[in-house]
Amino acid sequence: MHTPSLQGKVAVVTGGSRGIGREIARALVAEQGSVIICGRDGRRAEQVAAEISRTGPGTCAGTACDVRRYAEVEGLMRHAAETFGGMDILVNNAGVAGRGAVADLPLEKWHEVIDTNLTGVFYCCRAAIPWMRKRGGGYIFNISSLAGVNPIPNLSAYNASKFGLNGFSEAFMQEIRYDGIKVSTILPGSVDTEFGGRAPGQESWRLAPSDIAQLVLHLLAHDPRSLPSRVEIRPTQPPKKG
Ligand SMILES: NC(=O)c1ccc[n+]([C@@H]2O[C@H](COP(=O)([O-])OP(=O)(O)OC[C@H]3O[C@@H](n4cnc5c(N)ncnc54)[C@H](OP(=O)(O)O)[C@@H]3O)[C@@H](O)[C@H]2O)c1
Repeated sequence: MHTPSLQGKVAVVTGGSRGIGREIARALVAEQGSVIICGRDGRRAEQVAAEISRTGPGTCAGTACDVRRYAEVEGLMRHAAETFGGMDILVNNAGVAGRGAVADLPLEKWHEVIDTNLTGVFYCCRAAIPWMRKRGGGYIFNISSLAGVNPIPNLSAYNASKFGLNGFSEAFMQEIRYDGIKVSTILPGSVDTEFGGRAPGQESWRLAPSDIAQLVLHLLAHDPRSLPSRVEIRPTQPPKKG
C-alpha cells in the first residue's frame, strides 16, 4: 500500500525521543511530514529531532513536554500548530512500564503509570481536538499494547492503563469520527526497545520499532471512508510457551 505524501501535514508524536515513537517520527518525516516530538527530557528530544531532520526530506522539531501535565500538553499542541501552521496527526505513544506485585507496588508507581499511559492520552486528545477541527479533520493513533487485552501477573498497573486506554480510545473514536478525525488503537506485542529498562538488540524474534512505524504509514494510506479502528501486531515467532 503506497502512503500518500505527507507534505503540508503536521504531526505530533509524544515520546518520540526513543524506541517506537522515534521510528514513527522518522517514517512521517521520510514521507515529507512536519513533525514535533516530545519527551520529559527536552534536550534529548531536540537532539533526536535534529538527527531525524538531517535525513529528511520533511522536518522534525523536539521539545520538552510531560504528558501528565495538562498545561504542558496544551503548550505542545499550540507549539506544533504555530510552528508548522496547524495539526493533522497525533501519535499518543509516550508510555512507561511498571512491574510489581499489587501488595508491594509503590503508590507513586501506580500513579505514574496511569497518569502517563491513560490520563496523558486523554490530555493529548482533548488538547488536539480544536486544532484538528480547524483543519477539518485529522488522524489520532493511540499506542496501546497486547497487555491491554491480556492480563499478566505483576503487571497490574500497566494492564489497567492499557485496558483503560482501549476503552477510552474506542469510545472516543465513535464520538470524534463525525468531525472527520480518525482514531486507530494499535496493540503491539513485544517490541525491541529500551522500554522498562531493557537492553535492545538481544532478541531477534521481537518486533522492530520500524514495524510499528510501517503500520502507521499503512493506516494513513487507507481511503477516508475506511477506519481500521483497532489493530493488533505481534512477533511472528515468539519463544514457544510451555
Ligand atoms: N516496547 C514494547 O515491547 C511495547 C509493546 C507494546 C506497547 N508498547 C508501548 O509503546 C509505547 C512506546 O514504548 P517504547 O517501547 O518505545 O518505550 P521507550 O523506548 O521507553 O520510549 C518511551 C518514550 O516515552 C517518553 N515518555 C515517557 N514518559 C513520558 C511522559 N510522562 N511525558 C512525555 N514523554 C514521556 C520517553 O521520553 P522521556 O523519558 O524523555 O520522557 C520516550 O521518548 C508505550 O506506550 C508502550 O506502552 C511498547
